[in-house]
Amino acid sequence: MNQESEWPLLSGKSLTLSYGARPIVQDLSVSIPEGKLTVVIGPNACGKSTLLRALSRLLSPEHGQVLMQGRDVSQYSARAFARLLGMLPQSSRAPAGICVADLVARGRFPHQSLFRQWREEDDRAVAEAMVATGVSGLADAVVDELSGGQRQRVWLAMLLAQQTPVMLLDEPTTWLDIAHQLEVLELCRRLNRNEGRTLVVVLHDLNQAARYADHLIVMKAGRIVGSGSPEFVMTEALVEDVFHIRSRILSDPVTGRPWILPLASTGHMED
Ligand SMILES: Nc1ncnc2c1ncn2[C@@H]1O[C@H](COP(=O)(O)OP(=O)(O)O)[C@@H](O)[C@H]1O
Ligand SMILES: [Mg+2]
Repeated sequence: MNQESEWPLLSGKSLTLSYGARPIVQDLSVSIPEGKLTVVIGPNACGKSTLLRALSRLLSPEHGQVLMQGRDVSQYSARAFARLLGMLPQSSRAPAGICVADLVARGRFPHQSLFRQWREEDDRAVAEAMVATGVSGLADAVVDELSGGQRQRVWLAMLLAQQTPVMLLDEPTTWLDIAHQLEVLELCRRLNRNEGRTLVVVLHDLNQAARYADHLIVMKAGRIVGSGSPEFVMTEALVEDVFHIRSRILSDPVTGRPWILPLASTGHMED
């Protein structure tokens, strides 16, 4: 086995992440396995988005480093990095008045250069991304005027058009009704299974997390308190400790994955 294949594709080493003087994450190390669908869960404000921002270079660590393919992410040019890793932030604002097709086309920017103008393959990538996310019919609509769920799918289309081997999605299902939630999760699974892409997805729904994750990361108050397969990680003790609910963990009769049956809040809302 050559040494490179032992490196996780993307990793954080001893990360301290802060906004101003306030550290949100301290001395956190994380490995994102290549070719797997990783799901991150944890209560509000535990640092999930902060971690994704650091992994995607949007936030520079105060201490520690983020490595992509064994190399510090700060060593990549912005364009080279954007061809490797795409990020769907938790909330994004579209430029005023921009239409859907133009926003999705921005996903192709990292592939353009002075010597590499817009090509047919860019048109194809944009069209495919819009079909996959069900927004083709909205091509000429103004992004600002869409519903929250439609807008979320347009941003997702932009990310797909970027065609990166690594995709980070911060709460891609939050604004969606249940049918669209499942569509997005199935799309994530297809991108992973059929195209071998590495995905990191932040979800709120514990059962969706257990069902779709190959690798599950659980965060609490800026730390990782569990990581591994959903079967290994998702225990009644962990669910109580992290989410402050008593639950029963059953086996999903359809998928065999852990199936979390929430019973009662234990009433600890302080974090
Ligand atoms: N831009 C920011 N400036 C200052 N504090 C922030 C900023 N973004 C997030 N925080 C704080 O960092 C903590 C973690 O936030 P976040 O990573 O967004 O949590 P999560 O995504 O798990 O809900 C929260 O206390 C939040 O208020
Ligand atoms: Mg968040």
